[in-house]
Amino acid sequence: MLYTEKVMDHFEHPRNVGEIEHADGVGQVGNPKCGDIMKMYLKIDDGVITDVKFKTFGCGSAIATSSMATELIKGKRVEEALGLTNAAVAEALGGLPAYKMHCSVLAEEAIKAALADYYQKQGLEVPEACKLACEDGEGCCCH
Ligand code: FES
Repeated sequence: MLYTEKVMDHFEHPRNVGEIEHADGVGQVGNPKCGDIMKMYLKIDDGVITDVKFKTFGCGSAIATSSMATELIKGKRVEEALGLTNAAVAEALGGLPAYKMHCSVLAEEAIKAALADYYQKQGLEVPEACKLACEDGEGCCCH
């Protein structure tokens, strides 16, 4: 089978879909390879991500990786969330076909864009880890 059961589960029943009003951080990124778009909303209290929601105009792999990524960062500190990689998200889903790995980049970059927005709103310097992820993602609009 092309996709793992976990990928299909998160595609058919995505977690944390929607928007957060008055979010502490919002990030939107586009995938330069296919034009798909993802928007991520974070609620952050005392440096902890207490809620996260996403909206994706994209393929099944983008939806599944976004869903899994939101589960992985919910309840985590912002510093930990910054360390999340697309490879870790894909691994948590039991893997993705190689030619769909680029879809998982969208979730990582959307989280980092939302975190960059959070740091900026707080008047804090945006961490390097976030800037790097944004700079190599054409179409990233977090700066
Ligand atoms: Fe665009 Fe998957 S084909 S994110």
